[in-house]
Amino acid sequence: MRRFLIAANWKMNPAPAGAFDSGSAFQSLGACDVVVFPSYIDIQKALDAGFIVGAQCGHAKDCGACTGDVSMKMLSEAGCTYVLCGHSERRRSHHETNEDVAEQVVAALEAGLHPIVCVGEGDNEHDSKKKRSVIEAQLKGIPLGSDITIAYEPVWAIGTGVTATPEEAEEMHAFIRSLLPEDRQEKTRILYGGSMNALNAHLLLEQPNIDGGLVGGASLKPNEFKEIIDSALEIEEK
Ligand code: PGA
Repeated sequence: MRRFLIAANWKMNPAPAGAFDSGSAFQSLGACDVVVFPSYIDIQKALDAGFIVGAQCGHAKDCGACTGDVSMKMLSEAGCTYVLCGHSERRRSHHETNEDVAEQVVAALEAGLHPIVCVGEGDNEHDSKKKRSVIEAQLKGIPLGSDITIAYEPVWAIGTGVTATPEEAEEMHAFIRSLLPEDRQEKTRILYGGSMNALNAHLLLEQPNIDGGLVGGASLKPNEFKEIIDSALEIEEK
């Protein structure tokens, strides 16, 4: 009952060549939701190309003296549908805390945006007990009963070429699902992120608790991104 969602996180990169051409890999296809997270500069172009668009982050306050920030309300008014909250790169280089992320999620929902809440253990937190407690802390204060998406992104897998094995990822996705209120367990999508590519996508997406991917590096290569979507479509058809 959960449709796949494949998200392209372009991070601080220019849009890939040809991305905005009609029929490009970033156009949403019937059986699988495709969402593009461009830099702020490219949001309008992505909307004009007919994409479902998300912002990579947003400020919880509606407006005010926050130089360099863009509010959830502004993003929603600009035409964004989704927003990432608490990506590990924001937690690391902008010192966003679990509390900041929870505020962003609430503000996003109030602004009518769909938040994708990013969680995941760090480099030295591989131990299964440790990683569970990191994720519990990251989800504390998040309105888990609301219509949100969660992205499990182990920090050691992001941009490294090292991917969680399908079994490792599935175990964590099942754990995260068990933390959701009962009436949301079947509905909330949990995406995997961290070096997902054309070669490993099928095995990851086949897992029962993996409902899509948050794709960084491979989303900058439209042909490879298309292969990831094709894997989702193949599994959906089964
Ligand atoms: P990656 O990035 O696919 O390059 O590992 C994923 C992410 O940071 O969302």
